[in-house]
Parts: sequence; C-alpha cells; structure tokens
Amino acid sequence: MNITLLNLHPPPADLARLVDEGLRRSPRQLPAWMLYDAEGSRLFAEICRQPEYTLTQREITLLEDHAPAIAAATGPGLVVEFGIGNARKVDPLLTALGSSVFAALDISLSALEEALSGLAARHPKTAMVGICCDHTRLQQLPPHPALEKQRRIGFFPGSSLGNFTPEDAVHFLRNARQLLAGGPLLLGLDQPREPALMEAAYDDAAGVSASFARNLLQRLNRDLQGDADPAQFRYQASWQPQQQRIEMALISRRDQTVHLAGNAWFFRNGEAWITEHSVKYSPMAAAALVARAGWRIERRWEDLHQQIALHLLLPAD
Ligand code: AVJ
Repeated sequence: MNITLLNLHPPPADLARLVDEGLRRSPRQLPAWMLYDAEGSRLFAEICRQPEYTLTQREITLLEDHAPAIAAATGPGLVVEFGIGNARKVDPLLTALGSSVFAALDISLSALEEALSGLAARHPKTAMVGICCDHTRLQQLPPHPALEKQRRIGFFPGSSLGNFTPEDAVHFLRNARQLLAGGPLLLGLDQPREPALMEAAYDDAAGVSASFARNLLQRLNRDLQGDADPAQFRYQASWQPQQQRIEMALISRRDQTVHLAGNAWFFRNGEAWITEHSVKYSPMAAAALVARAGWRIERRWEDLHQQIALHLLLPAD
C-alpha cells in the first residue's frame, strides 16, 4: 500500500510535571489531551454516536453534501489534516479534490497507521503520508519529495479548536498558516446553540460523557500510581455564556485527599476539577479569532441546523 510514515519523534510528555502544574492551578485543570488514553479514545468515539452529540454526524453529512463545492473553492492541492480524527471526514474531500497526496499529522504513530491504511484502501491513487509530531506546534512539513511542489490545503475539522484557550487557538492558527505556505485552511467549528441542547450534548442520558471525564482519573491512577476514586466525583457540564463555552468538570462529593505520583491533593466538598472546555464560535467570533492569526474567512458552509460551520480561511495578506 501507498503509505509513508515520517517520525519526527515528538518528545514524550512529562505527565507527572503537567499534572502537578495543572492541579496547582485554581480552578484545577489539566490539558485536554490527557483524556485520550486508549479507553478515553474509545469512549470519545462512543460519545460521537450518542443522539445528543450531533456534531460528528452533522459534520460528516455537511462534508459529503458539499465536497464538490468545497473542492471548487479551495482549488487543487495536497490535503494536510491536523490530527487524525474520523477518517470519514477527509474521505469525501479526497474524492472531490482528486488529491495525489494526503498528509496526516498526529502525535500517535499507531493512530496514523490505522487511519491511513483504511483510507489507502479507498483511495489507491493517493499517496498517504503520516507525520508523527505534535500537530499543535508544527510550523513546517519535513522535507520529503511527496510534500513538495504542490499547493497545501489544511483541514482541521471536529471543532477540535474549541478545546484550546483562545490564545492557544491563535497560536495554532499562526503555525498552521506558516506550515500551509499560502494555502487555505478548512476549519470546522461548532456554533453556539440553545444552552439546554449544548449541555445535553456534553452530558448524554446514557452517561458516556460522564464516563469519559471519570476515565481521566482512572488513567492518572494507572500512570501515576494514584488513588483517585471516580465515584467520589460528580460530573457536570455547564454553558458559560461569558466565555461562550461548555465547561466540563468533576465535582468533589466530599472533602477528600487524592494521591498522584507521590503528591497529596486536597479537594473541598463541591470543588471543581475541570476536565475540559469546549468553546463555541459564532461566525463573528470565528472571524475575529482567525484575524488575530493572519487569516480571513473567504466562505462558509453550514448544516441545515446551523450547528456546524466549515470556514474556508485564506491568508489575510
Ligand atoms: C474533541 C474537543 C471537539 O468539545 O465537542 C466531546 C470533546 N468532550 N464531549 C468537543 C468532547 C466531551 C470534543 N472535541
């Protein structure tokens, strides 16, 4: 099969140090990527199948419905996806663009291998290049013949940008603009809706979102020899209108002490451990954000419910 893997050897994260930093903060909060160990990734895929969490299915439908129009607007080129997510999203784009190369950036070599082998079977004429790196920090593609002499079309779907603070989002968008070297970026963002709908999407009736958050404690217990008891925390997802974001948190059910990597952390009854934020961007907020990173919004596609917006960004200058 037509797959190349380039390993840029991203340094392994110092989990103990980052947990220490995050739990010293007030309120306590760790980087969202820590939610995704193997079990966390499995639970996130299950969240995407819950009836309340409509983002994934609507974005896939939007891409399938508009891929030819999107391809006409971006023009031809090689597709660069930041983070290998659900392969069903880039699939219709590769078909519509007829790209000879697809480059996927991700921190996980095994996730790259799995996603690219699935895609390669469906796109035998497309050279698949997996680049193992920290895709939130990369500023240029590694030298490789397949990656040269072609326009680059960036793809960052799934509202993944929503997990970043606005400052980190601007930083990422600047790096992406440099890496794409004049090419466009297709950015999929979840838009604000009725608070009750958004809160339900992040606290589904089947309890998968709650299990996803609690799995963070199980993951840390395993990796840092900890004793956090997931049952002693209640899960909560709340819309914060000021910051236009959903805050997901584990709330301590009592005064308790949690040990991780030899450190003791005291939690008051009712104290929040924030597991992640999911920022929602209206078209105006999206335009203001991307402008700070030197982009402008050239076009936008929305689904019928106006939940998902696919923004086509071009360099502002
Ligand atoms: C992967 C960041 C897009 O914010 O919708 C979903 C993460 N967490 N339910 C989102 C998530 C709990 C998701 N993103």
